[in-house]
Amino acid sequence: MDHFLYRNERLFAEDCDVEQLAKDYGTPLYLYSRATLERHWHAFDSAVSSHPHLICYAVKANSNLAVLNVLARLGSGFDIVSGGELSRVLAAGGDPAKVVFSGVGKTVAEMELALNTGIMCFNLESGAELELLNEVAGRLGKKAPVSLRVNPDVDAGTHPYISTGLKENKFGIPMDEAELLFARAAELPHLEVTGVDCHIGSQLTELKPFLDAMDRMLALIDRLAAQGIVIEHFDVGGGLGVTYNGETPPHPDVYAAAILEKLNGRPLKLIFEPGRAIAANAGVFVTQVLYTKDNGDKRFVIVDGAMNDLIRPSLYGAWQNIIPAVKTDRATTRCDVVGPVCETGDFLGKDRELAAGSGDYLVVRSAGAYGFTMSSNYNTRPRAAEVMVDGDKAHLVREREKLSQLWQGEQLLP
Ligand code: LLP
Repeated sequence: MDHFLYRNERLFAEDCDVEQLAKDYGTPLYLYSRATLERHWHAFDSAVSSHPHLICYAVKANSNLAVLNVLARLGSGFDIVSGGELSRVLAAGGDPAKVVFSGVGKTVAEMELALNTGIMCFNLESGAELELLNEVAGRLGKKAPVSLRVNPDVDAGTHPYISTGLKENKFGIPMDEAELLFARAAELPHLEVTGVDCHIGSQLTELKPFLDAMDRMLALIDRLAAQGIVIEHFDVGGGLGVTYNGETPPHPDVYAAAILEKLNGRPLKLIFEPGRAIAANAGVFVTQVLYTKDNGDKRFVIVDGAMNDLIRPSLYGAWQNIIPAVKTDRATTRCDVVGPVCETGDFLGKDRELAAGSGDYLVVRSAGAYGFTMSSNYNTRPRAAEVMVDGDKAHLVREREKLSQLWQGEQLLP
């Protein structure tokens, strides 16, 4: 459930009229709903309320400071993948003691920053990283809390670009090397083994791959216990899918209940790293129609938003619903919604039934996750403004980029 609903043919974000917001703030525009973000976070948190747990929102999905701050106020933890994301979490008032640091390529500088900040856990992904972190922590006179991300080799059944839990993917430590590396981590003086983690992919719409991964990970945790390596927390990663086009992913309640059943009384604290499930349907992308044109059989609706603003359709062939900000009774036609970027792959949607004319506003749904965070300045296009609505109030949470910011730091030759 989200808070983007029509009232008398006009789309509202909570109690704000979307077309009016587009006029007030300009387009292209990202719009987020605070109530939806909070609702989705609570759906996760209350699903596991009977068990020790921490929800660590995956910052990469949407890292706007206001989004992070709204979640921090709920007591959320954060899953980060860079020093930049850690700095954002701190700037947004997040608690470093609730931060887990994922990713295959942490640098020395990032390790130092995270150690000095006092994060909850490093999710390590290779033997080399483990040795380096031990060295860096030793130099700083610290002990680094670590978890090893193990690749359970299960097929997440999702798009190959966002599947991460197969042997052939770059992520995690192969299951057959895991015990050796845990033993190594346990003997290193500046590391403290606290957890095990996995993340098998994103936009999963079935429970089975999660549960297959659970079985393999729990068997590993039991083998480690037999060797005297006691694991305190199990981080199950993110990946729970959302509805873009009729998919029916499990509700967090169903997902959590299945996980708790698998846990079978083991006293492990559970960590979840949801990104998309919290942010995707808490945001929309609003764009204005510039022109329409017909090339033979094909009708194009040319809008002011493009692949540089929202790359998911171009990059993954992702389908996101496109709806009018104001419904009309004009006849619809089948059209491709395309942007001004000079690439054939620049489209937001293909073969959509819309009654869009010049000046109308269109709204791309489910754009709150991996929307703005994946945007770029390709074609020297300033990045969109971001607004968060809260009831009948709208707040500008990132101003539209100014052209001069785009070449800041560039130099002419002498
Ligand atoms: N934890 C780890 C270690 C991850 O790599 C990811 C996502 C998450 C958590 C959060 O996953 P989520 O709950 O959002 O599925 N750009 C792609 C998605 C890439 C996901 C990368 N990792 C997209 O737009 O579909």
